[in-house]
Amino acid sequence: MSTDSTPLQSSAVINEAVQTLREGGLVAFPTETVYGLGADAQNPEAINKIFTAKGRPSNHPLIVHLAAPEKFDAPQVDWAALLSPWVRDLSEEALQLVNAFWPGPLTLVFKKDKRVLNELTGGQDTVAIRAPAHPIAKELLRQFKGGVVAPSANRFGKVSPTSAADVRSEFEDLLDLMILDGGDCEVGIESTIVDMSSGDKAILLRPGVITPKEIFAKTGISVYQVGEAEIGVANAVPRVSGSLRAHYAPTTPLRLYAPGRVLDALSEFPDIKSRVAVAVWDSESSLVLEDHPSIDVEEIIVSSDSMLFASRLYRTLRDLDEQAWDLILFPEPPAGQEWDGVRDRLQRACFGSGPSSNSHASS
Ligand code: TXA
Ligand code: MG
Repeated sequence: MSTDSTPLQSSAVINEAVQTLREGGLVAFPTETVYGLGADAQNPEAINKIFTAKGRPSNHPLIVHLAAPEKFDAPQVDWAALLSPWVRDLSEEALQLVNAFWPGPLTLVFKKDKRVLNELTGGQDTVAIRAPAHPIAKELLRQFKGGVVAPSANRFGKVSPTSAADVRSEFEDLLDLMILDGGDCEVGIESTIVDMSSGDKAILLRPGVITPKEIFAKTGISVYQVGEAEIGVANAVPRVSGSLRAHYAPTTPLRLYAPGRVLDALSEFPDIKSRVAVAVWDSESSLVLEDHPSIDVEEIIVSSDSMLFASRLYRTLRDLDEQAWDLILFPEPPAGQEWDGVRDRLQRACFGSGPSSNSHASS
């Protein structure tokens, strides 16, 4: 089918993908965050195929992906009109966020219009929507002229794919799955999710590279963390599958180490570990582990820039997972909102990691 490695797909391939979506099939496509597994958001059978392919519980809601038609220049896009078939009670603040960050790695949760299928919202009264910035995603959505639901194109609980080859290896048994190849994803972790459905407060449901600080700087809108003062419990805990403690997990055990404490982390595993991969900040000098002559430690250099770190995180985890290490150690990310997205993904990956990660992840 379509896994040639050119970053841009020909219009014939896009046409084929659009046709596949119209016929109720699945198409994997690149976004700037991670690859998505797409289906027509108005076709219940197509949506069900996503849950089956991923092994995801059907009450976990999906994100609807939209694009503005090409005739618009970015500043002129009438997002309110484009959102009207999907959203009810669109607030001024929500529209401000849309205008400031779309297309881009920000998903917003709105009160849903009655036409939105229950199959995609997990029966909730809200709908999550984003407009991806990747040129292939935009082209696909424009040609399709409708909403496309797309979870990350991985099996439930596993690391999200950031290349077409990753998608292929997640769904090896789906031989006829169409995969649009857009090269490596630039952002590398899933979009930031902000819940705007309560009307008065913006609530961060999933951290990503767009931070509350950046949102405040661009729009003056304060985004609250779940659990922060004045937010009712009912409001604060919608179903977010990425919010399970275990998620995004490799099958090799993964742990974090505090600054300078690699040996402490190793000593927690007295009965292993002959082969250990240790990620080390590029800003730090090499590790000295003479105390452990029996351990074969290899250093993997990781960026101390949060954006670069995010863009490589899943690639690094996948590659290490394939190399048969006994243990993978990553440095704890530093404090600060720009690290919240990767800290969140790393913590969940640690919790769900190890050979039995499937059962952890779905618990
Ligand atoms: O970057 C991304 O967002 C990627 C790309 C492909 O767009 N998509 C993605 O989808 O990460 P997925 O399904 O892996 O994660 C979507 C998250 C889930 O945690 C889901 O629970 C949450 O969005 N979500 C969807 N609809 C929601 C809703 N109505 N209320 C609260 N959370 C919702
Ligand atoms: Mg996912």
